[in-house]
This record gives sequence, structure tokens and C-alpha cells, in this order.
Amino acid sequence: MWKLSLVLALALPAMGQKLGVGRAATADEVKAADIGVLIDGTNLPAGKGTAVEGKEVFAKRCAKCHGAKGEGGDEAPLVGGKGSLTSVKPLKTIGSYWPYATTLFDYINRAMPFNQPGILTPDQVYAVSAFLLNQNGVIQENDVMDAKSLPKVKMPNRDGFIKDSRPDVKKRVK
Ligand code: HEC
Repeated sequence: MWKLSLVLALALPAMGQKLGVGRAATADEVKAADIGVLIDGTNLPAGKGTAVEGKEVFAKRCAKCHGAKGEGGDEAPLVGGKGSLTSVKPLKTIGSYWPYATTLFDYINRAMPFNQPGILTPDQVYAVSAFLLNQNGVIQENDVMDAKSLPKVKMPNRDGFIKDSRPDVKKRVK
């Protein structure tokens, strides 16, 4: 017991002090890390792309894991499954399940390709998002996706979610 007291006696004063390591992030570093895109499109970067352009990006950066057309391979299918959610074998994809196209941009932008996240330019993320939306029959192959058009895309399953009726949630979610 005395040993524990000794340890605490030595450790406690030190815990109140600064450790002398690290530094505050600069405003530029905070800005570079602040890439979160909200469902209404807030924080979408400048840039644009179409499905035609995205086809190339997908073939080069995504197809080896998700299949040539996004049908799935070693990793999740990104296309198809429309109308399957109420069946015994629901297939959740961008087309059948995802409620917002802006979330697609955000997810790809921060997390894909899985083995090299962050390597795509904003134009490439818009283009590959457009490609996946087109593969799912949501937009045409020459529709230009950018900060204005992407939030306006109506996803097939947008209204397929049950609204959370808790009163405290209502205040936060429009
Ligand atoms: C090395 C393999 C790999 C590559 C390359 C890759 N992905 Fe993925 N992808 C994954 C894995 C693994 C997951 C599941 C991650 C998880 O659940 O945390 C995933 C999940 C996803 C999802 C979410 C699927 C869902 O409905 O849950 C999307 C969208 C996606 N990837 C898009 C892309 C795009 C676009 C590219 C190319 C720019 C890409 N991926 C490249 C492995 C990969």
C-alpha cells in the first residue's frame, strides 16, 4: 500500500503540469482536416465531374475491390439491390439504401480508395460519385455533379427511413 501512495504522491503533481510535447495545430492544419460534408452540401469543395469522367477513375482506383461496374467483388457491392430492402435478402447499396448523394461524396473523399484514402482530387471524387449514381440509374451520364447539383440529387431511398420521434432529436434534425 505504501508503494501505491508513493507512486500517487509522485505522479499527481506531474499530472497537473503540461507534458512539454506536441504543439497547437495551426489554422491551416485545422482547415485541411476539416473536410466533413453535411447532407445539405455544406463544405462541398469547388470542382466538378460527370459519370463519363468517373468511369476512368473507378476502373483505375476502385474496380479491383468493388467490381468493374460496382457490382461487388472482394468488397461491398455499390450498385443494384433496388426494391430488395423489404425482401428476405436485402441488398443495401448506394442505389437501394443511401439517402443522400452528399454523404457519398463525403465517404469517398475521406475513406476511399480504402488502401490510399485522400489521394483523389475533388474533381475525381465528384466524377466517381457521378459514375456510381449513374450506374445506379439515379442520374444521366453527362449530368455534371458539383457543389450545387449534388445536394439536389434525390436518392431513391430518401424517404425510406422512419423519422426519429424523440423530441430532443427533432430539435437538432430538420
Ligand atoms: C483495397 C480495396 C478497396 C478499394 C481500392 C476501394 N474500396 Fe471502397 N470499400 C472497401 C472496403 C473494405 C469497404 C468497407 C469499409 C468499411 O465498412 O469500413 C469499402 C466501402 C466502400 C463504400 C461504402 C459501401 C456501403 O454501402 O457501405 C463506398 C461507397 C466505396 N467503398 C467506394 C469506393 C470508391 C469510389 C473507390 C475508388 C475511388 C473505392 N471504394 C476503392 C475497399 C476498397
